[in-house]
Amino acid sequence: MKQTTEPPIDRIILIGLMGAGKSSIGRRLSDVLDMPLVDLDDYIVEKAGMSIPAIFERLGEAEFRRLESEALREVVGRRAVIATGGGIVMAEENRELLKKYPPVIWLKASPEFLAARIDGDNNRPLIAAGDTLNKLKILAEQRYPLYEACADLVVPREFLKKKEIVQMILRFLSSRKGS
Ligand code: S3P
Repeated sequence: MKQTTEPPIDRIILIGLMGAGKSSIGRRLSDVLDMPLVDLDDYIVEKAGMSIPAIFERLGEAEFRRLESEALREVVGRRAVIATGGGIVMAEENRELLKKYPPVIWLKASPEFLAARIDGDNNRPLIAAGDTLNKLKILAEQRYPLYEACADLVVPREFLKKKEIVQMILRFLSSRKGS
């Protein structure tokens, strides 16, 4: 039987603005590392029994944020690849938790790159009313410093192919093991 001396990876948490590819990169990592994927938005949807737009419309954004923090607390200790929603870094409580559970990986991309990917997406209430690029610029201004503060690794999302991003993350994980 093949013996390995490498310790198992406990978790990987992906952060970044909407459209950065947290779920799709998360899926690839989960396949390569043979770890479960927890998509935090999907987790919230399942628990609440309604879609993200329905939660925003019926319960309001503040309640969505409460559910989001609760979901993070519930899953953060699992051995999993965790793809978070873009707003996870807004609450201080969430940022504190993220810092306790490295590695946190920021998929960094410009509002222009992201707007081209998600414009017209009905499943994202924060951009549902249009003016996607401007909204993303405002979110980027608010959130970039917060992503930066939580991240152990910053991945230049728009300059790399998904395959290269996965390789970069895997290299980062092996370098951490040696440290
Ligand atoms: C949000 C991002 C969404 C989702 C919700 C709010 C945000 O997740 O959690 O619509 O505040 O940026 P994605 O980043 O997966 O789109």
